Amino acid sequence: MAEKMGIYKCEICGNVVGVLEAHEGELVCCEKPMVLQEEKTAAQEGKEKHVPVIEKTDSGVKVTVGSVNHPMEDKHYIVIIQLMKGDKMLTCKKLFPGDEPVAEFNVEYSDDLVAREYCNLHGLWKS
Ligand SMILES: [Fe+2]
Repeated sequence: MAEKMGIYKCEICGNVVGVLEAHEGELVCCEKPMVLQEEKTAAQEGKEKHVPVIEKTDSGVKVTVGSVNHPMEDKHYIVIIQLMKGDKMLTCKKLFPGDEPVAEFNVEYSDDLVAREYCNLHGLWKS
């Protein structure tokens, strides 16, 4: 069974998918089960910074990946930033090489907001 809001990767071709609704079926790509990406946190942080930082702004919320801006190069970049509350995704921003690793959302700030981001090389991270 797929995990709601799970992000899965094919370890053969590199396809990455996000689950919006979870049901019984297994996610398969290149004839192999896709792999659920673990949400990494500050505990797994190395010298390169991936953990999203949430700030309250006048108009809502700003999320920056990480405490030092993550690279946004053709071969290594942040693919998406998601803003979550519990297991609900409130909103998200798709990013591309050359963008800033930043997303501003017109969402009321609260202490229980969680940000996630997916790096094309280093996987899924959450605040
Ligand atoms: Fe990275």
